[in-house]
Amino acid sequence: MAPRTSWFLFFSSILVLLLEAACAIPDRDAEKDGAAKRPPSVDDDRRSALGEREPVSSATKMSSAAEESFPVDKSEMNGISAQRKSESSASRDKVELVYGDIVMAETADAMKEGEVEAVVFPHWFHRMRFRCKVCHEDTFKSDKGANKIDMDSISAGESCGVCHDGTVAWDALECENCHFYPFDQIEQPDKVEAQEPEDPAEILFAGRSGKIAGKGDRRNPVGNAFKWGSGWKPRALALAGLPRDRFGLVDWVALTRKGMVLPKGSLDPDDPEYESPVRYEFDEEGDEDIEDILIPVKSDTISAVVFPHTLHAWWLNCKSCHPRRFTRTAGETRMTMKEMAKGKYCGECHGKVAFPLEDCSRCHDKKKAEECKVSDSCIS
Ligand code: HEC
Ligand code: HEC
Ligand code: HEC
Ligand code: HEC
Ligand code: HEC
Ligand code: HEC
Repeated sequence: MAPRTSWFLFFSSILVLLLEAACAIPDRDAEKDGAAKRPPSVDDDRRSALGEREPVSSATKMSSAAEESFPVDKSEMNGISAQRKSESSASRDKVELVYGDIVMAETADAMKEGEVEAVVFPHWFHRMRFRCKVCHEDTFKSDKGANKIDMDSISAGESCGVCHDGTVAWDALECENCHFYPFDQIEQPDKVEAQEPEDPAEILFAGRSGKIAGKGDRRNPVGNAFKWGSGWKPRALALAGLPRDRFGLVDWVALTRKGMVLPKGSLDPDDPEYESPVRYEFDEEGDEDIEDILIPVKSDTISAVVFPHTLHAWWLNCKSCHPRRFTRTAGETRMTMKEMAKGKYCGECHGKVAFPLEDCSRCHDKKKAEECKVSDSCIS
């Protein structure tokens, strides 16, 4: 029942994408070798050097504690990257999307003209390293399709180019690293087949197509955060021992509480948010007015909601929510589950990137709500 619901979520979001794309995309030149066309200015030597991944700046590194527990073998990562590159240009295998992946094809016509596939933005992979506030709302509005992105802006160091410029992450010259969602899959989803790896031990090292992408030492215990991000995630997750919720999705609250990863809150090492430790409980000393809020619910069958303000403010910027989604007065915003299910209020994130709305008791937490009522720690 539960896993089905999450698959339903994946597929329904894919369906919406398919419909959108199908309307936007006219006929396409079917015969092409899939190799991405490069701008004439691209220097091949530099490109192959980048294929071997220059050392990235400290901004991409994990916290030193996390790094000690999950040492990263860079050479292994290089193998994965190189392999995936050649793989994606040669095959038409199905690309599995996972919760939070966004297929970006606003500029579909221009992409096809440039002979590249559609872009996948993997939230999961990025939020392992960065909190939402690094990207939202300054670089990207958290609203699918609301950002004007093209290769000019990326090369100018905006949008994805804020990081994918060879400093924080690999250079945007590696076309297939982003452009790997086959338009075939958008247009004729049934004709594309997924590859099932036979040896479960190999799944973690599989690329998005499910094929083995990179060698890695499979005797090592599974548990390297970078590999989780690189693997074929739904299957990889099952083996990686990550804390998961009852839908099988990563439980980001447990993961960060346990210190397994410490996503950065800024790209600037001088910013106090850069490596600020997890802070989910309200601290009197904190200067911001972000106590947890008890949201009463007009229902006899379900408990009130405790909105963990401090937790949200650790991941997100105030302006992700105020004033766009919620006013700064407790009790003022009128919300209903119906509207949330349509993607409003809490549903702007819950059901898309943060845990899904089906997980009722994580918001309608009876025990926490009772605690709020007896102590002064929540306001209502
Ligand atoms: C590395 C940058 C980055 C990080 C970090 C990031 N996002 Fe996003 N987010 C994006 C991009 C890019 C899009 C797609 C925007 C578009 O289509 O124009 C997006 C889209 C979204 C959307 C809209 C999805 C939809 O289907 O409409 C939501 C909601 C969202 N992000 C929430 C979050 C949350 C919550 C976090 C933190 C847990 C987060 N994002 C972290 C870059 C990021
Ligand atoms: C805040 C910095 C940042 C921004 C902004 C950003 N990325 Fe990334 N991205 C990274 C880092 C760091 C990595 C990991 C690089 C590495 O492994 O060397 C990465 C890796 C990736 C990967 C590889 C995932 C995998 O499975 O190997 C893809 C795809 C990707 N980014 C796409 C995008 C797209 C598309 C955008 C813009 C819509 C974007 N990124 C914006 C920092 C960023
Ligand atoms: C970091 C990720 C990333 C990399 C690497 C990347 N692109 Fe893009 N590309 C994007 C995004 C994001 C868009 C816009 C997505 C949308 O339209 O929704 C885009 C759009 C495009 C478009 C259509 C819009 C335009 O600017 O004409 C073309 C063509 C294109 N890319 C070609 C390339 C080529 C060729 C390369 C390699 C030299 C490349 N891209 C590398 C992310 C990337
Ligand atoms: C994930 C979304 C989210 C984020 C991020 C967020 N808030 Fe809120 N905030 C809310 C919600 C929801 C309410 C309650 C609205 C209601 O009950 O109608 C609220 C209420 C408030 C209130 C009113 C409290 C009261 O007692 O009346 C203040 C003040 C506030 N927020 C400040 C902030 C500040 C400052 C930040 C950044 C540090 C922040 N918020 C970040 C969602 C958010
Ligand atoms: C992301 C947090 C969240 C999740 C998950 C969630 N709810 Fe809610 N729920 C709320 C909030 C917030 C309200 C609105 C309170 C208000 O302002 O009246 C609410 C209101 C309600 C109400 C009152 C009537 C209405 O429709 O608004 C019911 C009943 C309810 N939820 C049931 C559920 C059930 C059943 C689930 C699981 C399928 C669920 N909720 C999941 C946050 C959540
Ligand atoms: C802008 C995005 C965003 C909005 C809007 C948002 N959340 Fe969240 N929420 C998150 C993220 C990110 C997390 C971290 C956990 C995750 O990603 O699954 C989170 C976590 C939570 C948790 C913690 C669960 C736990 O295991 O401790 C609760 C409860 C919650 N949200 C309730 C709400 C309610 C209620 C609302 C609406 C009033 C809301 N959220 C609106 C992004 C958002």
